[in-house]
Amino acid sequence: MKIAVIGTGYVGLVQGTCLAESGNDVVCIDKIAAKIEGLKQGKIPIYEPGLAELVHRNTRDGRLTFSTDLAAGIADAEIIFVAVGTPQADHGGADLSGVWAVGKQIAESLTEPKVIVIKSTVPVGTNAELARRMAESTTIPFDVANNPEFLKEGAAIEDFNKPDRVVVGVRRPEVAETLHELYAPFLRTDRPFLVMSPESAEMTKYVANCLLATKISFINEMANLCEAYKADVNDVRRGIGHDQRIGFHFLHPGVGYGGSCFPKDIRAVIHMAQSRGLPARMMEAVDEVNEAQKEVLHSKLASHFKDGLRGKTIAVWGLAFKPRTDDVREAPALVLIDALLRDGAHIRVHDPEAIANVRDLYGDKLTYCDRPYGALEEADALVIATEWNEFRNPDFDVMIRLLRSPVVFDGRNVFDPERMAELGFTYYGIGRVA
Ligand code: UGA
Repeated sequence: MKIAVIGTGYVGLVQGTCLAESGNDVVCIDKIAAKIEGLKQGKIPIYEPGLAELVHRNTRDGRLTFSTDLAAGIADAEIIFVAVGTPQADHGGADLSGVWAVGKQIAESLTEPKVIVIKSTVPVGTNAELARRMAESTTIPFDVANNPEFLKEGAAIEDFNKPDRVVVGVRRPEVAETLHELYAPFLRTDRPFLVMSPESAEMTKYVANCLLATKISFINEMANLCEAYKADVNDVRRGIGHDQRIGFHFLHPGVGYGGSCFPKDIRAVIHMAQSRGLPARMMEAVDEVNEAQKEVLHSKLASHFKDGLRGKTIAVWGLAFKPRTDDVREAPALVLIDALLRDGAHIRVHDPEAIANVRDLYGDKLTYCDRPYGALEEADALVIATEWNEFRNPDFDVMIRLLRSPVVFDGRNVFDPERMAELGFTYYGIGRVA
């Protein structure tokens, strides 16, 4: 099929590239000329495992092209995906100006009927409103459908190729049939293609993220309780997870969720509820618990260093909001770094992918280290803020030699408290005590 994808951010680029890889003819469109120029030369603006290779192969083979020209790009497309950003606006809801602007341009460029599919996460009612607005600019018939994205950063290609389900929100069954044809190659036999109204599809995306974020805030609150009563949250997790109604997934305690999705989507849902005069007590609590959890590492550091953190050197391993990405948006590591800077501490940081993004934010306020051990030199403590695999099996002897004092604050429970105590570390985990 001929496909146009508007917006070459995370969602759009993965969508366009994976659809090209499955044999479609895809043009990815963005108004930022520098980004499109870069992509044409093979420069991928984000780090996502496997994406660069796919972009290069499909560009070389001519199935994937990049353009700033929206009207020309959509002219031949059978389906137009809209994957522009919907960042948090000042009122807490989603800023939809990008969606409206693209809709207007599409409507003004239409020469024949088209299917426009919103991939961006949008508040309920956006599909209907987009159709209404577009109809003001064209007399040519078109369909607006919703197809929410469930990809996880760091595993996006695999998630795209093996979706747990595909959800489409449509007004006409013919549109669902077209989309089913497009996604059929990716649907394993036991995975459903779910057709519903655009409103339900829009809501599905938010409800999924709200429940996932709720699980994290729930387990973080329980972990803090475990710690206070000397229970081990890992054992408790095992104790509950075998109950099939509960399960093990997404119940890892840590330093709070970050990223471009959960924080923004939870606040968008709170805003949606408020707009209808409804309470959103659960989601307000989830957000509040998460904000507090982002402070937990700093509180532990502050109570360990009784004489204060001024002049102390703290090593931080992991800056991205989670492993396998260079994304530092709403990353818990940054909340810690801000607090340590206020305290007057020196901070030596290492991350396998996110250093460049952090350097853009902090400049020379931090010391950037290419290697994990480099960050430990002369440090009074190590903090682990992101659980990159490369941190899981370090040489503990080297760590003890390099650190000024062998203290580890493990925000992701990468290490075992008892083993760390045996090795001679003073160790702090989340919801676990030696
Ligand atoms: C999330 C959802 O998982 C995707 O399904 C969704 O498509 C995406 O948002 C989106 O809306 O676009 P993502 O933000 O990439 O994906 O990352 P996750 O792997 O879900 O992790 C989010 C945060 O939760 C991270 O900071 C992670 O460290 C934290 N987390 C996750 C925990 O603290 N504990 C857990 O058990 C799981």
